[in-house]
Amino acid sequence: MSGSLNPSSLARLLGEWNLGAAPAYRELADVVRLLVLDGRVPLDVALPSERALAATLGISRTTVTAAYSLLREQGFLSSGQGSRGRTCIPQSGPPGGHRGGGAHLSGAPGLAVPDGILDLAYASLPASGEVVHRAFASALTELPALLPGFGYDALGVIPLREAIARHYSAAGVPTTARQILVTSGAQHALNIVLRTLAGRSDKVLVEHPSYPNALDAIRAAGCRLVPVAMPAAVHPHPRSGASGGRPGWDLEAIETALRQQRPAMAYVVPDFHNPTGRLMPDSQRRRLVRAAAAAGTVLVVDETLRELNLDGVDSTPLAAFSPAVVSIGSLSKSHWAGLRTGWIRAEEPLIQRFAAARTTMDLGGPVVEQLAAAHLVNALAEPLPARLASLRDNRDALLELIAGRLPGWQSERPDGGLSVWCRLPAPISTALAVVAPDFGIRLAAGPRFGTGGAFEHYLRVPFTLPPEQLETAVAALRSAQDKLEASPQLRRSLGAPPAAAIA
Ligand SMILES: Cc1ncc(COP(=O)(O)O)c(C=O)c1O
Repeated sequence: MSGSLNPSSLARLLGEWNLGAAPAYRELADVVRLLVLDGRVPLDVALPSERALAATLGISRTTVTAAYSLLREQGFLSSGQGSRGRTCIPQSGPPGGHRGGGAHLSGAPGLAVPDGILDLAYASLPASGEVVHRAFASALTELPALLPGFGYDALGVIPLREAIARHYSAAGVPTTARQILVTSGAQHALNIVLRTLAGRSDKVLVEHPSYPNALDAIRAAGCRLVPVAMPAAVHPHPRSGASGGRPGWDLEAIETALRQQRPAMAYVVPDFHNPTGRLMPDSQRRRLVRAAAAAGTVLVVDETLRELNLDGVDSTPLAAFSPAVVSIGSLSKSHWAGLRTGWIRAEEPLIQRFAAARTTMDLGGPVVEQLAAAHLVNALAEPLPARLASLRDNRDALLELIAGRLPGWQSERPDGGLSVWCRLPAPISTALAVVAPDFGIRLAAGPRFGTGGAFEHYLRVPFTLPPEQLETAVAALRSAQDKLEASPQLRRSLGAPPAAAIA
């Protein structure tokens, strides 16, 4: 991407950047760096001139000059010709070292997290190692039989497609291997679906908040987002701060948006929605499928988190309600994101269209990985009991820590998935993410989960770390919040009436 950012757009993205917690030039540089890292300011765009930005922000040009120099020093701004540097990411940095593990949020592929930083920007788990290793050992013994072939297969290897089809059939959605396309993960699957079904300027309905990388993919496809707010959590528990009610989805709002906007596509995460962890009840699933069909909207269901069913509540896969539903799945959460294996389930003619669209991006997946994945899908449940037990402990520990140590935070108890969506006492999410590394943690700011700068009042906190590390992380969150509260600007914002509910 290339282009330039005008001063008022950057000012809008910066929000309440000047908290008075550090010299102004440093705060400005910190927030710009965060915006680049989490993808809200794209790479290779020219930042506004120093003079224009200073005038828009009402600060001295010297402050902007110093902020830009710091960004250049840190490798986030190219020197370029003339004075307008372009955004970039450092070319070299410390290797590896994610203590939280997982997939990058966006914007800075391969950027390493320094040692000692607890990574709360990811909601992902390490591999279920032994199970994965065994699957690869079996795959290697099966490989010779496939070596005489060309190795290209846009649909995926048969044993894996059969295993995935059996998995759907067992869950109550009769499926054949011809209805399955294997992909390099759910994100790849969504991009294939977008490329096939959504043209530039088409509308795509999304939950608000939603999974940041999906929002980015939809934006990158040139589509217009139609965000529908998830209802706010209700009935805060008087002691724990965790909400007691089950707010679910606002089906009336979704039905209205579908009827009035007639989007080409709707992207939903009904199984342990990212970031809220909610499970959509069957009654709402039925209504959703009916409303999408009436509007002529293709319903695309991301089931990446479906196996992380922490409370064991039954739900029917959305595809059981209509053959027109397109389902996306992945091994990233049940086994390991490093497998880069996912799939699309749809009607056969659509699968053929997806396979044709795929060849503009790649010509098929790696064969050994797919053979291993077939073993993993055949025994999908094997690593889950241990995984779910530790996630339940982590979830309880995190909810208790938030209730006990973070006054003013409201957390919603997730039905499943990997994270808690917290309402903060003030719109400080980006500010927290900016100061977080000083306290040994890395955060994904709330606005990454929405559009138009929403969710400054929210933070997603994953419970993928064990309780001892969660305790350290929550202590760090408290220190970061205390630092912000000590700044006069922020105290004013804490005293302001709460912003209207947005989720
Ligand atoms: C809802 C959702 N979809 C997709 C993904 C990405 O999945 P994959 O690693 O299979 O691309 C994630 C990862 O966190 C997710 O939460």
